[in-house]
Amino acid sequence: MKRPARIAVLASGRGSNLQCLLDGIAGGQLDADIVGVFSDKPAAAALDKVPAALCWARSPKDFDSRDAFDAALGDAVAACKPDWIICAGYMRILGADFVQRFSGRLINIHPSLLPLHKGLHTHARAIEAGHAEHGASVHFVVPELDAGAVIAQARVPVLPGDTPETLAERVLGIEHPLLLASVQLLVSGRVAEQEGMIRLDGQSLLSPLRLDSAGTLSG
Ligand code: GRF
Repeated sequence: MKRPARIAVLASGRGSNLQCLLDGIAGGQLDADIVGVFSDKPAAAALDKVPAALCWARSPKDFDSRDAFDAALGDAVAACKPDWIICAGYMRILGADFVQRFSGRLINIHPSLLPLHKGLHTHARAIEAGHAEHGASVHFVVPELDAGAVIAQARVPVLPGDTPETLAERVLGIEHPLLLASVQLLVSGRVAEQEGMIRLDGQSLLSPLRLDSAGTLSG
């Protein structure tokens, strides 16, 4: 029998996306084990969601350089022998060496419909731009910020009177099923990245998969 995939999660904040992966594992929707949770914020609430023995958290301030922090993080991640590394609300930019070390198995969830609104403050920027729709994307991580191949997206409407906070809450509601379904596709071996393209069941995807209201991804 195939063993569950080993997943490392990087998180800086409250950890609701991590919780959704944990719930998916408990509920039998995700065939994986969380083998480590890693943070650049030693007080992150995400760290309370798994046993302390699985956690690694260090402040970048305690390192001489960005590269030194990334190297320590990378060694800690590698030590838990993950098949996949998921950035779930990890708010620090990962250096090129780290990204290359885990290339092809490093994934991020970003709260926008990439390639729109890379970086921070995505909800405010979607409102300012007057978009009718906003959402979230799950993508492979490459050295350029939020620029890797997008596996899947989920959309929400932008409603009249939305503030960045109300829109963020609506997006978070679809981030969770999006992340869960995307990670299950990855661990099942059906999705891979090849030369900047996503392949599903061996076929190149021309556009990201979309999450439907039943929580299923389709082309
Ligand atoms: C999510 O919106 C994620 O997409 C973003 O940060 C937020 C983290 O939420 N990058 P949580 O820590 O998983 O609750």
